[in-house]
Amino acid sequence: LWPVKVDIGQFEQVVVNLAVNARDAMPAGGDLTVRTPNVTAEECKAFSYRELAPADYVVVEVEDTGSGIAPDVLKKIFEPFFTTKEVGKGTGLGLSMVYGIIKQTGGFIFCDSEVGKGSTFRIFLPRHIAEAKKAGEPGDAPAAPAKVADPAKDLSGSATVLLVEDEDAVRMGGMRALTSRGYTVHEASSGVEALEVFEALGGKVDIVVSDVVMPEMDGPTLLGELRKRQPDIKFVFVSGYAEDAFARNLPADAHFGFLPKPFSLKQLATIVKDVLES
Ligand SMILES: Nc1ncnc2c1ncn2[C@@H]1O[C@H](COP(=O)(O)OP(=O)(O)OP(=O)(O)O)[C@@H](O)[C@H]1O
Ligand SMILES: [Mg+2]
Repeated sequence: LWPVKVDIGQFEQVVVNLAVNARDAMPAGGDLTVRTPNVTAEECKAFSYRELAPADYVVVEVEDTGSGIAPDVLKKIFEPFFTTKEVGKGTGLGLSMVYGIIKQTGGFIFCDSEVGKGSTFRIFLPRHIAEAKKAGEPGDAPAAPAKVADPAKDLSGSATVLLVEDEDAVRMGGMRALTSRGYTVHEASSGVEALEVFEALGGKVDIVVSDVVMPEMDGPTLLGELRKRQPDIKFVFVSGYAEDAFARNLPADAHFGFLPKPFSLKQLATIVKDVLES
């Protein structure tokens, strides 16, 4: 198999999410098949995926013999918070997370499904050519066109921020960006720790900036827990989800901001200020 460049931890979550969905789609049992073929640029044409740019890919296929997905549902499965599962059974974040991770990696994901027969999720990861890599390159993924921050905007503030992020390097960068602009920043490396810090501070937190995908307690669950304690707490999600898909699913009265990964520290400071002012 050709080499690819992915974050192993994230890719593990991708495979686990697809496998869990497959399991849920086969309550009476069935077959789950995972395949990993190399697919050449030439072979890409055999797939009828319009967005798929012909190139060399390592494909990861996750196939089940479950319920299948009706065409009108299929259109929505990658949207954040879309779920057909009962309340409490699914958050609808699994596939949007999968989508975000694959996009960040510069890849593609497609789903073919037939009701009553089953579903196949097919992930195309660009073949990694080692020589093409330059030192210090952030990755092969084309960065999402970031909104250009208004250069004249004053990004300083004095609010108290709770920064929740399990990756130390990302958290430290955010910490520095906000502290240098005058904010008081408390950090937590998980949702559970964030709740502890929140309690220790007696709820004196103006805004929470949190990763969506974290072990133990994810961002949306943390938001729910914090809202129980402080209903109007300001919240910014940081994630690799497609921003437009996220925005479409925000309730009209949503009180949370969204910052797509990868982001610059200036963008972080900008969204914190915007959400505090909103
Ligand atoms: N393999 C599959 N077979 C049938 N339907 C699927 C399959 N995978 C996803 N779906 C459909 O897509 C919806 C969205 O999936 P997604 O993983 O995003 O959320 P969820 O599984 O409902 O909740 P969560 O993953 O957050 O627990 C599911 O509710 C289901 O309707
Ligand atoms: Mg799921």
